[in-house]
Amino acid sequence: MCGIIGYTGPLDSKKILLEGLSQLEYRGYDSAGIALCMENSRIQLVRHTGKVSNLKKGCEDIRQVSHCGLGHTRWATHGGVTTENTHPHRAGRVILVHNGIIENYHQLTTDFHLEGKLLSETDSEVAAWVLESLYDGNPAEAISKLVTHLKGSYSFCMMFEDHPGEIYAIRNVSPLVAAYTHSGSFVASDLTALIPYTRQYFVVPEDHILRLTSYKVHLYDLDLKEQEPEILEVNWNMDAAMKNGFPHFMLKEIHEQPDALKNTILPRLSKGLPDFTDDQIPDDVFKDCNQVQIVACGTAMHAGMAARALMEPLLRIPVTVSIASEFRYENPLVDDKTLVIIISQSGETIDTLAALRLAKSYGSRTLSVVNVKGSTIARESDFVLYTHAGPEIAVASTKAYSVQLAALYMVCCRMALVREKYSVAEAEDFMKKLLDSIPAMEAMIEKKDMVKALVTHLINKPDAFFIGRGLDYAFSLEGALKLKEISYIHAEAYAAGELKHGTIALITQEVPVIAIATQENVFLKTISNIREVKARGAFVILLTKESMNVEPGIADIQINIPDIGDRFTVFPIAVVLQLIAYYASVGKNLDVDQPRNLAKSVTVE
Ligand code: F6R
Repeated sequence: MCGIIGYTGPLDSKKILLEGLSQLEYRGYDSAGIALCMENSRIQLVRHTGKVSNLKKGCEDIRQVSHCGLGHTRWATHGGVTTENTHPHRAGRVILVHNGIIENYHQLTTDFHLEGKLLSETDSEVAAWVLESLYDGNPAEAISKLVTHLKGSYSFCMMFEDHPGEIYAIRNVSPLVAAYTHSGSFVASDLTALIPYTRQYFVVPEDHILRLTSYKVHLYDLDLKEQEPEILEVNWNMDAAMKNGFPHFMLKEIHEQPDALKNTILPRLSKGLPDFTDDQIPDDVFKDCNQVQIVACGTAMHAGMAARALMEPLLRIPVTVSIASEFRYENPLVDDKTLVIIISQSGETIDTLAALRLAKSYGSRTLSVVNVKGSTIARESDFVLYTHAGPEIAVASTKAYSVQLAALYMVCCRMALVREKYSVAEAEDFMKKLLDSIPAMEAMIEKKDMVKALVTHLINKPDAFFIGRGLDYAFSLEGALKLKEISYIHAEAYAAGELKHGTIALITQEVPVIAIATQENVFLKTISNIREVKARGAFVILLTKESMNVEPGIADIQINIPDIGDRFTVFPIAVVLQLIAYYASVGKNLDVDQPRNLAKSVTVE
């Protein structure tokens, strides 16, 4: 949520900042701006509403080369989408960009007598002026004082007019990575902006101050004692963050799922069984618990819902899924006998992070399923299971969801084994079936033209329903979210048997119903529910398995996935649901990768 970048070094900073902002744009795209340190320490600000492309046009006239600057791409929180509210903000000698929310900005405005000074409605400008008030020529000292006044979440990058060529940064919750290379020093919200220049980087620890000069990055704690950063190596290349011939990142990422699954599953397969030795997760984590609590947001939470539907009947212990933003205020029923599983692609979602911290404070053991290496949630969890999806750039999550599921399925299998719910042979069979889902996903990707054709029945409709029972209901939740978020068609997921308790009143000829029926044990029941909506004129798109015996006339369109084990159908079904949303968005000529009002990595509450 909001992308920030800073660069100082021998290269043209304008070019680096603009390219970096394009990479970071998925974090927010309401407006964008840069601040360049020019000759004689003059600071030039360029800020535009709209996408980074607007900013690029606005920078075309800048001829003088600058070697130091800051950039920001905004997802609006405080104040509307206006040029004044666009970062960077200037407060006297201070130039600042911010990702996060300063909760006590109102109090600070009063305490520091800022009323007449503010040009924007943002909390970030307030922070810039507080910093200016505290600044007496030593930037690091002023920053260390600044944070004692702030409540909220932040990563800031700052320049000081009287320290040309230097960039400062600090973070608490919001993410920040940094690198120094022979091409100069970089700091950014995430790695995608750094990857063209380096494979080595470090995650800026919370409550640490960075000072970037053109040849070195210094890291200090809040007492201004210099610290040694922990250097990490990137495990993916630039191709992973490019479209590579696909029209959209989302379509590329849908195609990447079979490989992402292999990368996540295969290294953890030993003699046909799930093995987390390399992840340093001992079996007692799975044994010494009497309940599982899953916490996540959005798509990650839907992965948790599917995992719950799988785990609870198998493990015979309570498995609960909570939305992180609710869990954290609920005084939840977790304790030292609860295994809390936290799911997050970014590893930075603030509510999920707060939920993790709360669970730890209750004495629970925490295991996170995270995609971004070194992210805050990964670092703070007792155990981490990295998914290996590579960078997910499209705002709508696809491959991250599938690999979260794969990781959770493996956890479920290992738990069943160590808790003696599964024999070795049963666990081997489970893993074999999990692997079968990879070619099944490939088969559905190949059928994408069939999905493309069916969206003509959706794109002119204001509403759609997704129905299913059991695991199929859990998959429906994700199908509805995908359709809403990128095609702007209102969609609801409903447990198929529940429709008739009120909501069926909404079913008319105008409402397409996407029915998922892949589970043998409830198949006939779901078919009955499909008949009920069909009788009310609904246009039914049925997603089922090849082997299921569907009478003619039940559905208007039927898409069959290959015959794989019932519990594993989520993988090919997810591909179909993602493609439905994708082609609906393309058919409506919308911005698939950057849907309105959204941003990747939600670092505000
Ligand atoms: C939807 C989507 C979001 C995220 C949610 C959690 O397509 O991507 O619903 O799943 O914001 O994000 P992470 O997984 O980064 O915690």
